[in-house]
Formats: sequence, C-alpha cells, structure tokens
Amino acid sequence: MNRVFFIGAGPGDPELLTLQGAKALQSAKVVYLPEPFPQTFAEHLQGKDLLIPFDFHFDELVSMIDAQLESAPVAFLVPGDLTFYSPFQGLINHFSSRAEVLAGVGVANAASARLKRTLDLPAVTNRTLIVSPRTLGDTADSPSLEELAAPGVSLLIYMNNLPLETLVEKLLIGYGKDVPIVLLHRLGLPDEAIVEGSLRTIVAACKGEDYFALKDPGKKPALTLVVVGETLQADVDGSWWDYRREHIWKSRQEVEGR
Ligand SMILES: C[S@@+](CC[C@H](N)C(=O)[O-])C[C@H]1O[C@@H](n2cnc3c(N)ncnc32)[C@H](O)[C@@H]1O
Repeated sequence: MNRVFFIGAGPGDPELLTLQGAKALQSAKVVYLPEPFPQTFAEHLQGKDLLIPFDFHFDELVSMIDAQLESAPVAFLVPGDLTFYSPFQGLINHFSSRAEVLAGVGVANAASARLKRTLDLPAVTNRTLIVSPRTLGDTADSPSLEELAAPGVSLLIYMNNLPLETLVEKLLIGYGKDVPIVLLHRLGLPDEAIVEGSLRTIVAACKGEDYFALKDPGKKPALTLVVVGETLQADVDGSWWDYRREHIWKSRQEVEGR
C-alpha cells in the first residue's frame, strides 16, 4: 500500500531535511509543497510532479491524492514540521493508516541554533510559550499577549499579524520592562535577515522593513519568527554546570559505578 508522507521539511534549507525525510521524498512521484520550497528543494524534486496544496479544496485534494497513490507514494513538504501551526491535521486524519508523519527541524529549533541560545535557561527563564497573535484572536476567552508576556517567559511568536509598534507595546506591558527581542526573517533561505534589539530599540532597528508582509496586497506568508525574552542576552558562567555536577550527575555516576 502506498503512503502519503507528511515530511517535516524544516524552515527551507534542504540541508535541514532529515535522512528519513529525504528517503521518503525520493520515493514520491507527486509532491505537495508551499513556496519557496520548489526553489530551495529543487535538486530533490527533479522529475516529480509539484503541486501547491493550498490551491485545492479539501475534497478535491483527497480525490487527487487517492488517484496518485494508485501508482506511487505521495509526499507533502511540511514547513518546519507538524508540531506547531501546521494545517495538515485534517488530511492526516483522513488518510489515517495510509498517512505517515516524519519529524523535522521546526523553525524554533533552527532559530535557537542560529542564535546560539537555549530558550529555557535555569534561573533566567522558567517557561517558554509558543504563541501567535493570530490564533490568540480566534476565541474571545483566549489570554492576551499582554497576559502571556512576563518576566521569566521566553516567547516564540509565529505568524505575527500586528504592526511591530503594536506588538512591542503589548510586550512591554506584559514584561513590565525592556527585554531582548529578535526577528528571524526567512531563516535558512538565501535572503535571510536577523534583526536583534530590545523592545525599546527593535522598531528603529528594522528601518521600516515590512518583515511581517503587513503591507503586501498579495498576503504572501511573511516567514518571520519573533523570539522574546531575557535568555537571548543572559550571561551564563560555569556555576549552573557545577551545581548539577555536584547535586545530580555525580550521584548518577556513583550509582553507575563509573
Ligand atoms: C504555519 S507556521 C509553520 C510553523 C512550522 N510548522 C514549524 O514547525 O516551525 C508559519 C510561521 O512559521 C514561521 N516560519 C516558517 N518558516 C519560517 C522561516 N523560514 N523563517 C522564519 N520563520 C518562519 C513564521 O512565523 C510563519 O508565520
């Protein structure tokens, strides 16, 4: 039985495709993928039929995939991977045992690596929240961004649809102080831009660039992730390492007799 693979493709750099993902992609004849993957994954896509999934209604898509599965596996290149903000759950449920989901490098993982920063730093950050102002607006009883932003919180903000000035105002209310913020625009793509600053300086640092495509009449996806929180600038010395060595790792080592 041929399968539909939902391949976590990462932010767009084909080097971040897993070996498992590459193997599944190679087996497929038809590949559903969003922009800019047809360009960035070009060398993995030669001889395949490429389709944009968002060009079709659900039932139409399902009928096409059913027919395509008759002759070969079908692949979807999922931006990042399925874990956060992925629109493919309905298709995965529909294809059930014929659907296979392959983990990939989420944009959050690639951002952490690019910034060389862990997002939950003991004694600096005690929780990391994944949010989108867009989905927070979906239900009346959702907490506001001002309520979620707070000292000790790292925020990963996807699909921002607020003007940067408004976003920053809300974050300043929540944090109650100036904290570091970074915009990672088109991470892993040839025109990647990283803008770093603090809540009070980031608007000027962006120099009027429309990183969230709010002025784009075609409503093109902006591909900008925002990361906020004290961990981005925190100084880390060896004391936390030694604390763990004394209180956790040493006793494990003794138990294991090493
Ligand atoms: C529908 S979500 C997809 C998230 C994805 N499923 C993941 O696992 O990372 C789309 C949002 O992810 C972020 N994003 C996706 N690709 C990106 C990239 N190459 N660079 C920066 N942000 C990106 C942006 O915030 C964008 O609005």
